[in-house]
Amino acid sequence: MKFIDLFSGIGGFRQGFAKAGFECVFSCEINSKCREVYADNFGEVPFPDISNINPADLADFDVLVAGFPCQPFSICGKKLGFEDTRGTLFFEICKIIKVKQPKVVVLENVKHLIHHDKGNTLKVIIASLEDLGYSVNCKMLNAKDFGIPQHRERIFIIATKGKKFNFSRLKTKFPPQLREFLDETGDFEILDKSEYTLIEYPRKQDSGLVFVGYRNKGTWKTGVRPNTEHLSRVHRQPNRIYSVDGVHPTIPSQETSGRFFVYFPDRDLVRKLTLRECYRLMGFPEDFKSYPSAGESYKQIGNSVCVPVVEDLAQEILSQSLLYDKMKELPSDAVLEHLSFMLH
Ligand SMILES: C[S@@+](CC[C@H](N)C(=O)[O-])C[C@H]1O[C@@H](n2cnc3c(N)ncnc32)[C@H](O)[C@@H]1O
Repeated sequence: MKFIDLFSGIGGFRQGFAKAGFECVFSCEINSKCREVYADNFGEVPFPDISNINPADLADFDVLVAGFPCQPFSICGKKLGFEDTRGTLFFEICKIIKVKQPKVVVLENVKHLIHHDKGNTLKVIIASLEDLGYSVNCKMLNAKDFGIPQHRERIFIIATKGKKFNFSRLKTKFPPQLREFLDETGDFEILDKSEYTLIEYPRKQDSGLVFVGYRNKGTWKTGVRPNTEHLSRVHRQPNRIYSVDGVHPTIPSQETSGRFFVYFPDRDLVRKLTLRECYRLMGFPEDFKSYPSAGESYKQIGNSVCVPVVEDLAQEILSQSLLYDKMKELPSDAVLEHLSFMLH
């Protein structure tokens, strides 16, 4: 089972699909720092710019995966969508699909894609894939339902030949607690008690987050009633503190200083997450080699896709027999070998 990894970043999709038994036959990523990290970890330098790919030159593959750039669709971006030149990158994906006709296409994007341009952007994406001969299904998936204590919602669009991908067959899990993913010892950046304020009655939100307080740094004091600080804009995202008894909020790509502070109620202590812990909250392995500069590494991991989510998608693509023709083409020994891999 072969796949190509477009807009590969540092290889979140690659890890998930490789774990499910797929082989990567091509990757593409324009950012040289991401390419360095990718090469360091997978021994392959991705092709730089998708716009320069001649689809006919690509080796055959079964699945195309692409976490295409989210800036035009991001709530933090300019919301220009297809008017923004980056928006046209989606059509570069379509050019490849048209020529290579993979059996399955998996696209990932930020949550806001659903609302972008009053839903038109998503409609155009789905219509374009249907025009290319695919059945399309999409769903918002949250990393916290896939064994990772991070509230990270992303839309997944899956295009298949014939029957649609059935998202309801994905087996979701009860979210683990953040503390289970954190190190006991290390060179931690611990906040002094004078640097933060804890709210009086923290409670677990439906999202699984437990907001407990905020860093005093940069907060507005004037005109804010005591104990209502958490309701106002005084606690911009990098100032918020969450308990390790819940899940962590989305790790964003914009937070290049890694200001993710967590509270341990049992120790009455607030500390910053380490870079390694952030990678763990995206399902990356302990031995993953990140970029030498911390700022760049935070950006890269925040841009990535959560590995266990895409691994489960890859497993389901196999279980739902969406590559069935391919299995028929294989000699029976290879089919048996593959099924035995799946069972383990
Ligand atoms: C949202 S990130 C995808 C990250 C990836 N899924 C991962 O796991 O790390 C989008 C990526 O598309 C890349 N990109 C933007 N324009 C591109 C282009 N013209 N050709 C190839 N890659 C491009 C960006 O550099 C960025 O790394």
